[in-house]
Amino acid sequence: MTNSSSNTPGSARLRIAVIGTGNLASTLGATWVRSGQELSVFGRSFDRAAAVANEIGGTAIAASSVRAHDLVVLAVSPDGVQEALTLVGAPGGALAGVPLIDTTNPIDWTTGRHLLASGSFAEQVAHWAPGSLVVKALQSYAGHMWLNSPDPERTVALCGDDPAALELVARAVTALGGLSLVVGGLEVARQAEEATAFVARIAAAGGNPRLTVPALQPNRR
Ligand SMILES: NC(=O)c1ccc[n+]([C@@H]2O[C@H](COP(=O)([O-])OP(=O)(O)OC[C@H]3O[C@@H](n4cnc5c(N)ncnc54)[C@H](OP(=O)(O)O)[C@@H]3O)[C@@H](O)[C@H]2O)c1
Repeated sequence: MTNSSSNTPGSARLRIAVIGTGNLASTLGATWVRSGQELSVFGRSFDRAAAVANEIGGTAIAASSVRAHDLVVLAVSPDGVQEALTLVGAPGGALAGVPLIDTTNPIDWTTGRHLLASGSFAEQVAHWAPGSLVVKALQSYAGHMWLNSPDPERTVALCGDDPAALELVARAVTALGGLSLVVGGLEVARQAEEATAFVARIAAAGGNPRLTVPALQPNRR
């Protein structure tokens, strides 16, 4: 799956490549650096990637190096995702076998509607990056919340089909300071994507999502 010796259970240091040089890339990246992970940044502009890497304590990398990490994190605007994946050779199989977190919120925020008529953006990502081990995760919390307001009970729902990839993503979430919970396979990702928009819609209508969505008792197995 990966060529990293750090990819062993219990090993503390992950090698994480972030695709993107914007808000989420820099806040998640800075939080991972702070927790001791090895962080690489790829952007369509090498200069922007170098500036972000320099600011957060990571390393800017070329497209060909992205796959050589334990985990790749897609932190790009939805309309740029296909191009970003193409830049790193994903359509030709460059990310085959690599865990790939899709953090995108494929929502038209003016209407609140999902950008796709059916299916999830995460499944679309899997189509654009054949063989990659896509996990939908980290789309709901703002990046600065990991960096500036840690909460050990903050929980990241994971949707993915590959157990080893889910395990690596769980380790990355632990490194951010949160908990993770596997809620289903990639077929559940559309619900996860819609949920973020629904929560935003509740807030826009003047409600508190914490009080609008019932706090059910967890099903402990
Ligand atoms: N911000 C958050 O707290 C947060 C939280 C959860 C999820 N997300 C999701 O994370 C993703 C990024 O959000 P953001 O807030 O970081 O946005 P942002 O600050 O606007 O950054 C967007 C990034 O996408 C890149 N990009 C746009 N079009 C591209 C293209 N055609 N090819 C390659 N790269 C392209 C931009 O590159 P350039 O710099 O070169 O323009 C930039 O690095 C979104 O899908 C968002 O839904 C964000």
